[in-house]
Amino acid sequence: MTTLTEPVPVPGHIPPEAVYDFDLRFDPGLLANPHERVRELLREAPPVFWTPRNGGRWVAIGHREIFDASRDPEHFSSSPMPKAEMEALMASLPADMPRIPQAVPILMDPPEHTRYRAPLQGSFSPKAVQARKESIRELANELIDAVVADGHCDFIPAVAEPLPVRIFLRMMGLPEARLPEFRDLVHEFLAATLSSDIEAALMGRKVADAMLDVIQARREDPQDDLISLLWATEIDGRPMTLELMEDYAVLLFIAGLDTVINGMGFGVRHLAANPELQAQLRADPSLIPDATEELLRRYTFTIPVRRVAQAVELGGWQMLPGDWLALYLPGADLDPREYESPEEFTLKRQGKAHIAFGAGVHRCLGSHLARVELQVLYTQMLERLPPFRLDPQRPAKFHSGNIIALDSLPLRWD
Ligand code: HEM
Repeated sequence: MTTLTEPVPVPGHIPPEAVYDFDLRFDPGLLANPHERVRELLREAPPVFWTPRNGGRWVAIGHREIFDASRDPEHFSSSPMPKAEMEALMASLPADMPRIPQAVPILMDPPEHTRYRAPLQGSFSPKAVQARKESIRELANELIDAVVADGHCDFIPAVAEPLPVRIFLRMMGLPEARLPEFRDLVHEFLAATLSSDIEAALMGRKVADAMLDVIQARREDPQDDLISLLWATEIDGRPMTLELMEDYAVLLFIAGLDTVINGMGFGVRHLAANPELQAQLRADPSLIPDATEELLRRYTFTIPVRRVAQAVELGGWQMLPGDWLALYLPGADLDPREYESPEEFTLKRQGKAHIAFGAGVHRCLGSHLARVELQVLYTQMLERLPPFRLDPQRPAKFHSGNIIALDSLPLRWD
C-alpha cells in the first residue's frame, strides 16, 4: 500500500469549501485507473480546489479555468520564484559549484520567454517534422518487428521508451549506440523529479553532461542536426553561448521524451482494449490522425504547474502570491461542461480542440513532432501486428506526479 504525502495546515486565505483532499502522486484511485479517477474528481470536487497534500496547492480541473489561467502569465507565472529572488539565490551559490542548467523557455514568462522560444520554432515546424517522418517510421518498424514473433511484449520498455529516445538521439546528432545510456538517464530523471526539486536540478546537470561532448564538437564542426542549428542562431543579436546550448538540450530532453512515451502508452492501451477500433483503423488508416487527436483528449496526461505571482481570483477563490497551482489538464479534457459525453471515444468529435498540449504562450512547441510520432506508431503497430489485446494476467501499472505515466503495459496477440 502506498502512503499519502503528509497534509499541511490550511492557510488562512483558503475557505473550507475550497479544500478537497487529493494527493497528486499517491491517490490510490489515480494509481489504479487514472482517468476514471479524474472523472470522479470532476464529479466530486469544484473546478478549482485546494489540496493539503503535496505541500499544499491549488488544483484546477475545469477546462475554462485551466484555459484562463494558462493564458494569464502575469498572474500565473511559469518561473518557480520571482526573478530578483532567483538572481539572489544564484549569486549566493559557491562559485566552484557545477552550473545547473535552466529549462528555458518553459520556466520563463513573457517578454523573456518569447525571445528564448523563437530560436527553437523553425526546427519544430510542420514542414521540418514532415521531413523526419520516414526516419521515424523506420525506427518504429525495427522495434515492432523485434517482438512480433514473440506473441507478447511489455509495450513500455519494448517500444514506447526506445522509440522517442532514438528519435531524440537522431535529431540531436547523438550516436544511436548511446541508446541504453539515454534510456537510463530518462529513468533516473523521472525518479529525481519524483523525489525532490534539488535532485531534479542536479539531474539537469547530468543530462547536460551527457550531451556536452557533442555540443562542443558541433561548435567547430556543424552537421545536419539540431545542436548545430542552434549554435547558428542568435538571441537579441548576441551569438549563442555554451550555457544556453546546455539549457536548450536539457529542455528538449525533459519536454520531448517522457511525454511521448506516455502518449504512446495510453493510446496503445485504448487500442488494445478496443478490437473493433483496431479493425476500423486497419480497414481505413486515413482515420488514424483523427484517432490520434481523440486519444490525446481522452487520455490527457501532463500537469503543468504555475506560481501565483499577483493576487487573483480563479474559479471563485482568492489566490495569493506564492500559492502554487497545478493545471490538471487531464481534468480539462474530460470536463462535461466542455465536451459532450467526454468519457466516450468519438472519432469525429466536432468543433472542440483538446488541451493536451496546453494553451497560451507555453503551448507545446513539439506538438507537430509528437503528433507525427504517435500517428506513425499507431499506423505501424496496426500494419505489422495482428489484433493485439491487454494481457489479462498482468494489468498495466501507473505512477503519477507532473505527469500521469505508465510503468508497464503487457500486450498479447495470436
Ligand atoms: C504527446 C506528447 C506531448 C505532450 C502531451 C506535450 C505537452 C506539453 C504541454 C502541456 C506543454 C505546456 C507546458 C506548460 O504550459 O508549462 C508543453 C510544452 C513544451 N513542449 Fe511538449 N508535449 C509533448 C511532446 C513534446 C515533444 C516531442 C517536444 C519536443 C522535443 C516537446 C517540446 C515542448 C517544449 C519545448 C515546450 C515548452 C514550450 C514553451 O515553454 O514555450 N513536447 N508540452
